[in-house]
Amino acid sequence: MSLSSPPRPLLPPPTPPLVVPTGEASAAIWAQGLEVEFQSGKDRYPILKGIDLQVPRSCFLALTGPSGVGKTTLLYTLAGILTPARGKVSLLGRSLTQAKRAQVEQFRLQHIGIIFQEFYLFSALTALENVMLAPKLKGIKVPSARHLALTWLEKLNLGHRVDQLPRNLSGGEKQRVAIARALASNPQIILADEPTSALDSQNGRNVALILQQLCHEQQVTIVMATHDHRILDLADRVVTIEDGRVVGDS
Ligand SMILES: Nc1ncnc2c1ncn2[C@@H]1O[C@H](COP(=O)(O)OP(=O)(O)OP(=O)(O)O)[C@@H](O)[C@H]1O
Ligand SMILES: [Mg+2]
Repeated sequence: MSLSSPPRPLLPPPTPPLVVPTGEASAAIWAQGLEVEFQSGKDRYPILKGIDLQVPRSCFLALTGPSGVGKTTLLYTLAGILTPARGKVSLLGRSLTQAKRAQVEQFRLQHIGIIFQEFYLFSALTALENVMLAPKLKGIKVPSARHLALTWLEKLNLGHRVDQLPRNLSGGEKQRVAIARALASNPQIILADEPTSALDSQNGRNVALILQQLCHEQQVTIVMATHDHRILDLADRVVTIEDGRVVGDS
């Protein structure tokens, strides 16, 4: 080695495995050419047929379209729960489609809040315990997780129901627990699947206003699948899907 050559590093420089090109990096959500199909026996059913979706940070995007068109499938694909047959997804500048499953799960835990259409509450846990689970899994200590959970349950008008098991809650109450759980981990991206489907107009409006406020005041990015025309006016952008493709973007 000559004296002028730089010293050789002991270890190769760290190369973050999920980093993507600059264009994708600035978007909260960058999905390109997404194709998803389900298999039944020998038959394959294409559901998403080439979806492109770019969502800037702090955008409140509503996803609409007839029942069965693939809104939940798209949200699951954006969350890395479903792997597309073709196409790619990057979130917050990290490629999910190129990442290993454990990396995707860790990323989801840290950055994404999902409000499931079917709620998926743990039946043996109270409302409060269900909501505390999200911040606890993220590494937040129990007293803070409890405080966060109570704050969100109260904002969703459930302060009087925190010690109830899911079987003692109404459909709308269960849905609001599911919403509180998604919000309690302070995610940067929220994927909300029909979050007002079981709610009366007052609670539905309250939920949509909370989501809008998170976007505009805390730079959270939201994709919300909805059939609820009472709240569409609160979204910054409405994307319509039909026959597996984006047919409207306004
Ligand atoms: N795991 C699966 N296996 C096979 N087919 C599936 C599966 N999940 C969904 N599908 C089918 O894919 C299509 C899209 O379903 P998806 O749940 O994404 O629709 P959606 O737009 O969310 O509908 P809705 O508005 O009723 O919630 C439907 O025809 C559904 O039956
Ligand atoms: Mg759905």
